[in-house]
Amino acid sequence: MTTLAASASVAEPFAVRLRTQTQNAHTRAESAGFMSRLMGGTGSIDQYVALIGQYFFIYEALERVGESFRTDPVGQAFISDALLRRQALEADLSFFSGPNWRETIEPLPATVTYVERLEAVASNSALFVAHHYLRYLGDLSGGQIIRVMVQRHYGISEEGLSFLIFPEVPKPKPFKDAYRVALEDAEWSADDRDDFILEVDRAYGLNFDLFTQLGESTAAK
Ligand code: HEM
Repeated sequence: MTTLAASASVAEPFAVRLRTQTQNAHTRAESAGFMSRLMGGTGSIDQYVALIGQYFFIYEALERVGESFRTDPVGQAFISDALLRRQALEADLSFFSGPNWRETIEPLPATVTYVERLEAVASNSALFVAHHYLRYLGDLSGGQIIRVMVQRHYGISEEGLSFLIFPEVPKPKPFKDAYRVALEDAEWSADDRDDFILEVDRAYGLNFDLFTQLGESTAAK
């Protein structure tokens, strides 16, 4: 007997499609020379600090633009104070570079491009959440591995790693599962969902370009 459930084509969950279709872009970003040196122990504390210095500008924009989604009927499901990273980045930069840390950083061209893109997607919940997903689910996934590796290789104490510590998300897995349910439930059209995946791919590229420029700008140090 053919049951309804068996005969109906069960749609592939969006989170699965998203992960599958962006897997190559993830691998490329994860394997960027700058990132693999940092993870492999041949990078340096200075390089980690240079990375979070660029992240300061990116999260400032991500979270500034994110504020406008607090009242957005679709976007609001994703906005959570538990994720906010800007203050954590400020604390870490102050830890490494002292009270005048803000004068020690300026955005690389790749960061400027990234920030411009974040500002450009401010009126489209699918495109904005694509960026939100990429950074925060990445921080709650690979970010936790990065935290262990930089701690191990460079002896950075937890005091300098607030960016990768989420006190209000003690268990990333259920948080990420709930996030994926929200992705599933969001009232986006099929076209919006295609655009979301393309934007995630684009955002991986923006991160990759940043790693490339960080590799170049910190190579002489
Ligand atoms: C050194 C680097 C990295 C390692 C070792 C790493 C590792 C991982 C692992 C193991 C997962 C799967 C976790 C899970 O299924 O719960 C994951 C997921 C993820 N990573 Fe990475 N990653 C790295 C770099 C990055 C970078 C640079 C980005 C973004 C720019 C990123 C974005 C993501 C995202 C968005 C996910 C969630 C995928 C999903 O389940 O939908 N990762 N990463």
